[in-house]
Amino acid sequence: MNDTKSNAMWGGRFAAGPDAIMEAINASIGFDKRLYAQDIRGSRAHAAMLAAQGILTDKDAEAIREGLLTVLSEIEGGSFEFSTALEDIHMNVEARLKALIGEPAGRLHTARSRNDQVALDFRMWVRDQCDAAIDGLTELMTALVAQAEAGADWVMPGFTHLQTAQPVTWGHHMMAYVEMFARDRSRFADARVRMNESPLGAAALAGTSFPIDRHATAEALGFDRPSANSLDAVADRDFALEFLSAASICAMHLSRFAEELVIWSSAQFRFVALSDRFSTGSSIMPQKKNPDAAELIRAKIGRILGAQVALFTIMKGLPLTYSKDMQEDKEQTFDAADSLMLALAAMEGMVKDMEANRPSLEAAAASGFSTATDLADWLVRELDLPFRDAHHVTGTLVAMAEKKGCDLPDLTLAEMQSVHEGIREDVFGVLGVHNSVASRMSYGGTAPEQVRAQLARWKEMLG
Ligand code: ARG
Repeated sequence: MNDTKSNAMWGGRFAAGPDAIMEAINASIGFDKRLYAQDIRGSRAHAAMLAAQGILTDKDAEAIREGLLTVLSEIEGGSFEFSTALEDIHMNVEARLKALIGEPAGRLHTARSRNDQVALDFRMWVRDQCDAAIDGLTELMTALVAQAEAGADWVMPGFTHLQTAQPVTWGHHMMAYVEMFARDRSRFADARVRMNESPLGAAALAGTSFPIDRHATAEALGFDRPSANSLDAVADRDFALEFLSAASICAMHLSRFAEELVIWSSAQFRFVALSDRFSTGSSIMPQKKNPDAAELIRAKIGRILGAQVALFTIMKGLPLTYSKDMQEDKEQTFDAADSLMLALAAMEGMVKDMEANRPSLEAAAASGFSTATDLADWLVRELDLPFRDAHHVTGTLVAMAEKKGCDLPDLTLAEMQSVHEGIREDVFGVLGVHNSVASRMSYGGTAPEQVRAQLARWKEMLG
């Protein structure tokens, strides 16, 4: 083709090769080699379609097919030599194909460009990550359901402002995360539906004059349809942004749960014991068991959201269609996906292993005047007080107990009657935490019966 040092793939008009720094800034092979399987799969579908359309001979198509399989096994076997001079995965694969099969390799790129090729490869890779996230979330939800089932009626303090609010059940708290992770799962599923259009055949940007069959390649590659506008097909990366948005929200949920585990496993709370498998020790303080996995999960949102911000920033000012800026779409998306999958797996492992400390939870549930709302509700229900008055009476009783250094159920009936004479002995029934949670029977409430109903629904959905 040409005998200068210029690029063998596109160097026809070039007299000299690139500067070393140009090569360094231009090459993406260091990271986009990760797309090798998608690249080869896309090329195989493209070659088969070209042959079916009479654009390639069957003989050439067969040579390309065989050659691509060889390249695939070389990459998977670790013997493939990636070259920076060949810039990216697309040209590395094609150059090796040429070395293996000769002239027919040069025909593979008919009616195609690296612009639709990279859009295709990356889209298929992100699509796989949506599936992986959905699987990871399903596993995590299953582990949470098991925790909820074990402790559907265990009481613990529910918090607002991280101050004791009202008693809730352990099962209810676990199932709150099941709901959040279920929405995360549906976000990945929604994004997957929208991204499932094939850009292949958009070519450089305008489509092609060859009689290709984009519907055939779309179907062969598991897409619902070919994308309807060739400019859009090569120009947008919104599918990656949707993935990263779903990943950021999911990582935020993981981070909140991780934060709770850090708090709950502390000596001051002792709500849960994390397993040795997901903790580390300190090199100086022998008593320490640190919740490192939870802390790292808590931190992953930083890089995942960072990747999202980076890609938004990269894309925001680009005129249609492809610009090389878009090569910067991959590294951080790869990193975000890796971080998310690892965080999901680590959280699942921690949840599976963790042991709730039922006595600690129950003791904490009863402290901090957690049944004050139950007392106020009793005054409304039994004595027909307006809620505002009941709130005031209860507040006075809380202050009295606080002064005495006891909890609400430790006040005597006489003490209570000194604040409101209508209070009767049966008020003590609502001051216990078990009665409190059992009474919260509104749909979605914390009563064990409600939690069990939600559990049954989720167990059926998770299969
Ligand atoms: N490595 C490139 C990327 O990741 C592939 C597409 C190159 N296209 C081009 N016209 N230079 O974006």
